[in-house]
Amino acid sequence: MEKQCLFGGERVKIGPDSGYDNYIMAIESSCDETACAIVKNGREVVANIVASQIKTHEKFGGVIPEIAAREHLDAINIVIEEAFEQSGLKPEDITAFAATVGPGLVGCLLVGLNAAKTLAMIYNKPFIGVNHLNAHLCANYIDTDIKPPFMALLVSGGHTQIIDVESYSRQTILGETIDDAVGEAYDKVARLIGLPYPGGPKLDKLAQLGNPNAFELPISKVGGYDFSFSGLKTAVLRLVKSFEGKELPVNDICASFQECVSKTLAKKLRKALEERGYKQVVIAGGVAANSEIRKKVFELEKEGFKVNAPAMKYCTDNASMVASCAYFNTNTFDDIDVEVFSRV
Ligand code: KG4
Ligand code: ZN
Repeated sequence: MEKQCLFGGERVKIGPDSGYDNYIMAIESSCDETACAIVKNGREVVANIVASQIKTHEKFGGVIPEIAAREHLDAINIVIEEAFEQSGLKPEDITAFAATVGPGLVGCLLVGLNAAKTLAMIYNKPFIGVNHLNAHLCANYIDTDIKPPFMALLVSGGHTQIIDVESYSRQTILGETIDDAVGEAYDKVARLIGLPYPGGPKLDKLAQLGNPNAFELPISKVGGYDFSFSGLKTAVLRLVKSFEGKELPVNDICASFQECVSKTLAKKLRKALEERGYKQVVIAGGVAANSEIRKKVFELEKEGFKVNAPAMKYCTDNASMVASCAYFNTNTFDDIDVEVFSRV
């Protein structure tokens, strides 16, 4: 794959067939993390900097887009400088600059995108725009030798998808949620039982202390590889109300909810694997950090499947996955005029 340098310049080859070491600097700013990373040849992280805004948004119980965008502005130059410092590289050593272009919060995306475009223009290097969801998938290439084809379960705050990854650039979404994403369901249920933002990881911790069979919660009957989590959320709401005036068995509710979600995801993932005849499976996205989902998916190893999940720090939003995606050309946008987008 060849990419054109900005302002004319020579043509630059990028990716596995380029024949030389690629160092891609990427920026991720789609939500509440300002991140910058440099990755060598799509798999080896030489710098990974993440500035989280959790402390800011905690008091509001969720991400406030305008405030998030302003915080990205404050942090962006710092994370870029730190990435150079951590790697020991100079801007001239960078092969290409990449950034997430969507989906995400428009004001937030603009900060990272403009920073990466500006760096590309100053140093006369190619610019590569990356889809955030593809980037989550590519987190699986970091520190591994995994190559497509494989089946992927992508679970994040905004998406829940089963994806047939036929090659680095060819992917088919086999099914997705028809209402809430898994991460969204976690965050909403966490709020229902009084856990502070961000609720998903906190709910996961409490679930590990509870009985997963304490309450029977409904498994959605939606067909094919699609998912639905809004019925489950309503069932938890009813369960919580039934305890009005009494002490809420929080740990057991968390454990039962987690059991229901992880069972549903693992069942559909296995079905997709069997139907396509794949031997490899990966999980990706912020919710891939969940203890029970990881456990249930890794149980597939006993049946001979090769299973991979990114290290925790590469599951939630980070820029290394964006750099990896830019290197492997997973449906990237190579036009310097590319605009941000909020939804797929
Ligand atoms: O991928 P991500 O960092 O951002 C999006 O692209 O959406 O995912 C964030 C989501 C949030 O909903 C968060 O609550 C959830 O991932 N999450 C978890 C866990 N860690 C993060 N949900 C359940 N268990 C976890 N351990
Ligand atoms: Zn994400």
